[in-house]
Amino acid sequence: MDIVYTVAALRARLKTESSIGFVPTMGSLHAGHIDLMRIARERVGAEACVVVSIFVNRLQFGPKEDFGKYPRTLVNDCEKCRMAGVDVVFAPDESEMYPEPQGYVVEPPEIQHMLEGAVRPGHYRGVVTVVLKLFNMVQPHVAVFGKKDYQQCRVLDNMVRQFNLPVELLLAETVRVDDGLALSSRNGYLAPTEREEAPQLVAALRAIGSALHAGERDFVALETHAFGTLKARGWQPDYVAIRRQRDLLPPAPADNALVVLAAARIGATRLIDNLEVSIQAPPFF
Ligand code: PAF
Repeated sequence: MDIVYTVAALRARLKTESSIGFVPTMGSLHAGHIDLMRIARERVGAEACVVVSIFVNRLQFGPKEDFGKYPRTLVNDCEKCRMAGVDVVFAPDESEMYPEPQGYVVEPPEIQHMLEGAVRPGHYRGVVTVVLKLFNMVQPHVAVFGKKDYQQCRVLDNMVRQFNLPVELLLAETVRVDDGLALSSRNGYLAPTEREEAPQLVAALRAIGSALHAGERDFVALETHAFGTLKARGWQPDYVAIRRQRDLLPPAPADNALVVLAAARIGATRLIDNLEVSIQAPPFF
């Protein structure tokens, strides 16, 4: 496995590759990331090249967010990539990624302002800008992202479509611990009691999922109830929202492909999670 730190070295290394699978990350790799690497490899094949980028992107963090304390574990991460059969790790530093202030940015449409975007203004502008730069640097045929960041997947999918980027996006299912907690680099911030409580976030989503499957269609009542339940348990929820999978807009009662998304703070740690709920249309008779 090669580890490269500059765009020039990356381009030189990839020059002769005819098929490239790409997994962009911010490092602090866990089993969820390893699964993305496995999916990339499966899609491009044993002879092709799998690239993982590791870069904590300042542009997508708000001024009061955890950019400074975000875990940086490059040596361990590279070892995990090597074990996962990755061919190239691209680990630029900030001066390589942003050699001058990034004056040109990608401004996503309205979807950037809802849900996560309402709480983290500018977040998706930072995400799509760095992902576009990474796509230009790596020029992958396939790129893999986790559905844990559901809104990010939608925003990136739209960008790839609207800019006709020659890359196929694969969206991977969320990897969870046995108790349901979605894997996240931020789980490491949780104190032991918070870690015990953390699976209650997905429990709230699953309760909504069950109610939807049972025929409940009062979306606002379901959201409000889950919000209140989390609050009563000591969480500070930002949102619990039932949306359409395709565009994350509020659903009509007849919509069947839904996703329930939530973000909430437990102690000082902010967790996000989501659950796709696809309801079978009732039979005609
Ligand atoms: O999902 C992430 O880890 C980041 O948002 C990404 C896509 C690597 C861009 O910095």
